[in-house]
This record gives sequence, C-alpha cells and structure tokens, in this order.
Amino acid sequence: MNKLKRSLHERFPLTWLFHRNTSRWTFNTLSPGVDDTPEPPRELLDTPYYALPTPQHSAAGLIEAIQGRHSCRQFADVSVPLDSVSALLKYSYGIIGESSFGALPFYERPVPSGGSMYPLDLYLIASRIERLDPGVYRYAPVSHGLEQLRNGTIPPRILTYLFMGQTYAGYAPLIVLIGADFLRSMKKYGDRGYRYIVLEAGHVAQNLNLLSAALGLGNCDLGGFFDVELGTLLHMNIDAEAPLYGIAVGVLERVLHEASRSPVVDNLTSRS
Ligand SMILES: Cc1cc2nc3c(=O)[nH]c(=O)nc-3n(C[C@H](O)[C@H](O)[C@H](O)COP(=O)(O)O)c2cc1C
Repeated sequence: MNKLKRSLHERFPLTWLFHRNTSRWTFNTLSPGVDDTPEPPRELLDTPYYALPTPQHSAAGLIEAIQGRHSCRQFADVSVPLDSVSALLKYSYGIIGESSFGALPFYERPVPSGGSMYPLDLYLIASRIERLDPGVYRYAPVSHGLEQLRNGTIPPRILTYLFMGQTYAGYAPLIVLIGADFLRSMKKYGDRGYRYIVLEAGHVAQNLNLLSAALGLGNCDLGGFFDVELGTLLHMNIDAEAPLYGIAVGVLERVLHEASRSPVVDNLTSRS
C-alpha cells in the first residue's frame, strides 16, 4: 500500500486516539470536569524575590514587529536590558488590568485563556541580564517580580545538553520557558484541556516573538529539549507540571552595530 495514503490512525495511533477521544460531539458538549473556578496565579513566598521595573519602552508598531520577526540563533555578546525583560514578561503573560469576577478579583492578561483558567507559568534561565544575578527564576505576575529558584550561571554545556545539543540555546543570554500547570485547566475540561493549554502556550510564545522583534531583540523558539530534566531544573512538580516551550532571547548583532554607529550619524546630521 502507498504509505502516503495510509491514515493518521494507522501511522500515529497515539495522536489519533488522543484527538478522537478529546473531540466533542453533539451529545458530549459539556466539560467533564467538576471544578470550573479559576485559581489566582500562584506565587512562592519562601524564595528570594526581585521586583521588576515598570516597563518604559517605546517599541516598534505591530506591523513592523510582524515583519521583523524571524528566528535568530546568534546573539550579540552583551546583556539584555532588565527593562526589556520586564516588558517581555508583562506583555506576554503578565497582569495588564484588574476587575472582579463575583466576589473574586479577576486579573486581565494579554492572551485569551480557555475558561480564564490561565494554566501557564513563565520561567527564566538568566545568563546575561543587566542588573540581575544569573540564575533560574519563576515569574510572579501579580506582583510583577521574579522568584529566584537557583542562584548562579547554568553552564552552557549543561544548557546545550538540556536543549538536545542546540549550542545557541546553551549560549543564549536568556531563555524564557513556558510551563504548564496542567490541573489548573484540566480540572474543568478533562483531557480536552490539554489542547487548550498547548494553544494558549502558542499565544504566549507569539507575544514573546513579536515583543522581542519590537524591542530590538532576537529570539528563537525551542521545542527540542529533555522534558523531565528541564522541568527538574525549573523546580517543577514533574507529576503535574511540565515545560512546553522555550524562547531563547538576546540582543541582535545588527542592533548592536547600529547603536555603536549612531553617535557618528548624529554628528554628521548635526553639522548643517
Ligand atoms: C513548535 C516549534 C518548535 C521549534 N523548535 C525549534 C528548536 O528546537 N530549535 C530551533 O532552532 N528552532 C526551532 N523552531 C523554529 C523553527 O525552526 C523556525 O521557526 C522555522 O525554521 C522558520 O524560520 P523563521 O522562524 O525564521 O521564520 C521551532 C518552531 C516552532 C513553531
């Protein structure tokens, strides 16, 4: 039989089983979960904490950012400004407004979320960020700060290994990790919630991609990594949480060169 004509069912039975068994039909439109109450973002209270500055950036417009987005695997040998990191976190998955949901506070966020369950968390592997000690951090969105999980540089060869031999990940000044806390969403949607979690991670990653482009940073999305080892580095409860996606970030070589040329250009233009 021609292999190309074989069905998904035959070629990838696990994917097929998952997709079919989480599909909705006329008679199963209700969520199977028992609990549809969103949980507020979790914050750790027993770790060193760094408050992030309020982002001050003037960034490029949306169309320019979409046109400027592309994967970048070589970064300038300089630190990423803390203010840019603050903007990346706040406008990808931070809190951008507050209203109420009955008696509960409702945090407005920059991405849509199935049932407003917001099952994701952001983590940083920080190697070169201005005014921030190298280490591993978890983003606390309500207070807009960083919870330090590990202090000290993670050696590039360890990071390269965790990202399955991708050296540009090992040497990136910063990697943002999108992690899933599965039960926050699946307690309402059951297995179908897995789809929503992965879709939501895509929204967050696109925000990170476009924000990077708008802020003059380069980035590369990373789907290749050793899941359990990386989750352990991020202090995840690996029975209920997992890293889904990495976004390596750094200053673009081009932007650095343009910045180093700009005083000369200013002098030339101011002579007239
Ligand atoms: C889900 C997903 C996973 C990816 N994983 C990796 C990765 O592990 N390593 C890598 O170098 N690029 C990775 N990429 C980036 C793609 O290689 C890249 O987007 C593609 O080559 C198109 O190039 P462009 O982003 O410059 O348009 C990934 C992209 C997506 C959407």
